[in-house]
Amino acid sequence: MSQEPQFTKSEEAPSFHKSPSSGISPGVYDRRGGVSLTPQLTQDGSYTFFSEEFQEAFHSYHGAKQEAEIKFIKPTQIRDLASKSNSIRILDICYGLSYNSAAALEAIWDVNYSCYIELVGLEITAAVPQQAVANNLLSLWKPPVPQLLSELATNHQVTTSLFQGNLLLGDARETIQQLCQKEWQADAIFLDPFSPPKCPQLWTVEFIAKVAQCLKPTGKLATYSCAAAVRTALSLAGLKFGSTRGLGRKSPGTVASFKEHQDQHSSLPPISLQEQEHLQTRAAIPYRDIHLRDSTEIIQERRRKEQEASELEPTSQWKKRWLLLKNKPNKTP
Ligand SMILES: C[S@@+](CC[C@H](N)C(=O)[O-])C[C@H]1O[C@@H](n2cnc3c(N)ncnc32)[C@H](O)[C@@H]1O
Repeated sequence: MSQEPQFTKSEEAPSFHKSPSSGISPGVYDRRGGVSLTPQLTQDGSYTFFSEEFQEAFHSYHGAKQEAEIKFIKPTQIRDLASKSNSIRILDICYGLSYNSAAALEAIWDVNYSCYIELVGLEITAAVPQQAVANNLLSLWKPPVPQLLSELATNHQVTTSLFQGNLLLGDARETIQQLCQKEWQADAIFLDPFSPPKCPQLWTVEFIAKVAQCLKPTGKLATYSCAAAVRTALSLAGLKFGSTRGLGRKSPGTVASFKEHQDQHSSLPPISLQEQEHLQTRAAIPYRDIHLRDSTEIIQERRRKEQEASELEPTSQWKKRWLLLKNKPNKTP
């Protein structure tokens, strides 16, 4: 099998952020059988959780709050949008602790306090946003953001004169279909599942095609992932993409939209030659889940077989070539 770079959300996690004994927080289930998640400090002073099930942190250890801003808010140019529009729709896929939504609400109302925001969050379990509230983790954002999102975590629906929030609970492969049926479309989509190797079901060609249906023709989708398989799935859904800034590491994220914007300010940031070549390797073979209900193992195995049979360049070869190039005194290819 090709060795492709596998970036996880918690990549380069310094050991002092984990519990000294196991390196992982105590179990997710408390004695009553409920979900119990222990906050873990990240480098910008904000907290994240660690998922026992996926063996991954919910955010980058370089900074959970910073990740929301750098990987999701800036790439979708939400502030710009708020300065031009009085109504914004946001789709937050894998709502989790609600940090991306909190950052978006604060950014929009900082620019335009009378902007009406419609937010839809997709999340498998209410326990995650509820634990974020219980641990007072939303207090990093200005009022009324923590109050609105606390109410959303509890009631799964909030309506005020400036805000309509809906939290759709369940597998996002199912809940996304409710939005497609209603032809509901967002100005900004945050795609934030656990990493592709751990949670391939939310990075497949078929799921991303549904996500793309929920994006307005002028909208932008942002994700922290720069995986070639994810970028292939975005392309197959008709989206163009560019690279976004990395957080505390070199690898970038991805921003996508249906059209290349003409003006320099809103155009997609270009991808590097190294990233372009990555898309010609076996790492670019996407995950597939035709009926949107296969297990993680089946989806992983299907892709592994497709990679094995592929005549594309092995990703390890691409990696080696670029490593050699980077170590050369004259780096021009
Ligand atoms: C990386 S975390 C998201 C962090 C979140 N965006 C935030 O800002 O806090 C991934 C989230 O996906 C949720 N999740 C996992 N599998 C899912 C699925 N099939 N459908 C919907 N949500 C899922 C997890 O419960 C977790 O909250």
